Amino acid sequence: MKKLIATLLLIGSIATLSHGQTRIPPNVQKLLQKNTCLACHNADKRLVGPAYKEVMKKKKYKADEIVALIYKPNPKNWPGYPPMAPMSQVPKNEAAIIAKWIASLK
Ligand code: HEC
Repeated sequence: MKKLIATLLLIGSIATLSHGQTRIPPNVQKLLQKNTCLACHNADKRLVGPAYKEVMKKKKYKADEIVALIYKPNPKNWPGYPPMAPMSQVPKNEAAIIAKWIASLK
């Protein structure tokens, strides 16, 4: 019985990993919220802007390229979306933390 429960738990966690929502680390979540990224972006789903996972699937950016795009978006990369406004108010260190997390998504 214990073994069965353990097996079911294992299957459950694998299913969550492959179909569940991306877990955003709390420090990153806080910065995404503070800098209003979450108004237009979700890690997994298209909102106003592309899902962060979609961004990485299509573009495979390095973290410093993402930092540059936060300050100077390139709407040509995303036909079918409205242009993202440049977000010059985002502090450099916060942009770096956000970008590192986005770059880590698969
Ligand atoms: C008002 C809506 C809005 C907000 C706020 C916003 N974005 Fe975007 N973002 C978009 C849209 C729309 C696109 C696709 C069009 C474009 O790139 O201009 C996009 C594209 C992107 C891309 C892909 C860039 C590329 O050229 O491939 C990244 C990365 C990104 N956003 C990150 C962020 C981060 C990080 C924040 C917060 C600091 C943020 N966005 C805030 C709407 C938004």
